Amino acid sequence: MAYQKCINCGREYSIDEIVYFCKKCGDLLEIKYDEGELAEALRDNKWRSVPLSVWRYRHFMPISDATKVVSLNEGGTGFHLCQRLAKHLGIRQLYVKNEGENPTGSFKDRGMTVGVTKAVELGVKSVICASTGNTSASLAAYAAKAGLQCAVLIPSGKIAYGKLSQAMIYGAKVIQVRGNFDQALDVVLKLSEKHRSIYLLNSINPFRIEGQKSLGYEICDQLNQEAPDRLVVPVGNAGNISAIWKGFTEFHELGLVNTLPKMTGIQAAGSAPIAQAIKTGSDTIIPVAKPETVATAIRIGAPVSWKKALNAIRESHGTAETVTDTEILDAQKTLARVEGLFVEPASASSIAGLKKLVENGEIDKDERVVCVTTGHGLKDPDTAVKMSEKPVEVDAEITAIEEALGLKEQVAILAR
Ligand code: F0G
Repeated sequence: MAYQKCINCGREYSIDEIVYFCKKCGDLLEIKYDEGELAEALRDNKWRSVPLSVWRYRHFMPISDATKVVSLNEGGTGFHLCQRLAKHLGIRQLYVKNEGENPTGSFKDRGMTVGVTKAVELGVKSVICASTGNTSASLAAYAAKAGLQCAVLIPSGKIAYGKLSQAMIYGAKVIQVRGNFDQALDVVLKLSEKHRSIYLLNSINPFRIEGQKSLGYEICDQLNQEAPDRLVVPVGNAGNISAIWKGFTEFHELGLVNTLPKMTGIQAAGSAPIAQAIKTGSDTIIPVAKPETVATAIRIGAPVSWKKALNAIRESHGTAETVTDTEILDAQKTLARVEGLFVEPASASSIAGLKKLVENGEIDKDERVVCVTTGHGLKDPDTAVKMSEKPVEVDAEITAIEEALGLKEQVAILAR
């Protein structure tokens, strides 16, 4: 039987209690399982014949009623061997786990399928979140599928257009907050304490983390029951790196893989309290009051899951690094042009971080590396258009097009 447990004082809560922070010490909660029961449920190996997806790992999820599952076919995302990019970066083996291939275009769907299923199990009628964009898009979609009311709080003017359009078309009540994500999250936490009937689905909700941990499971299964040497992932509010680490450690404890990867978190230079804490060896973070970056998805100064993230990085002997906006946008372009993968700026920070860590010798070129790209490039078309060469406009005449393609010059050269 699964239960909720405080990561600090160990106090336990029932799986059916709506509680976001420990009532005794105020820290975050996580879901725990009876390992014996889990091992028993997995013994017949039937789960292995279910196609790769979040719900292939149903036994590892804290959901008791399979008939209530709210799914849009999340997970089972592409695991791309990137030989050209690996060569470009000077490493032996690189995979990109491309989470933009989820139903609403980001890894958030893994968490929302479980979180919204839990909401249905609990019998709540409305759900809410604060978001830099992707969480709101995902929650709005799953709430629509489940027939729940949905409200999302977003920082005014600071979310990418694709994400805004998603939250709106799925029918969520969209509230633009005058302030940044951290302020929006702060107010939504207070609101959901005051109005207990509104279920909060930010990543402090441990059921969301359970869905997102499937990212770690899938990578092991896509590597034929092996863990990579290193996992590189963008970090914002820090739920995802914590979730992926939970996935890897659970597979390891069950004997499904023999090793664990070094967890490597990448933050944008203007919003990097976790990377800062890792670099200075601090046990706590100093929040950034005015976070800034072109990667609006990770424009977060006070990550709520910082403690889980520091733990994942340190326990795994990993590291954290910062990347500038220029490095992020260069990496986005390179990934698109060398591997045909179009990801949003925040996602490209994992590639930018890998490049930096290889260059400064912190990542060995013989390591087997997996970079997670967290959201689809079409989430933020404005940035992509802004940083690319402008299209040329010509008349619909063959000579004009020959000129635009430089074909006339080639003919002239050949004729010489
Ligand atoms: N990449 C993308 C594309 C994201 O949308 C986010 C988070 C992250 C990385 C960082 O993940 O917060 O778990 O460390 N987006 C949240 C949102 C905050 O509201 O959509 P994290």
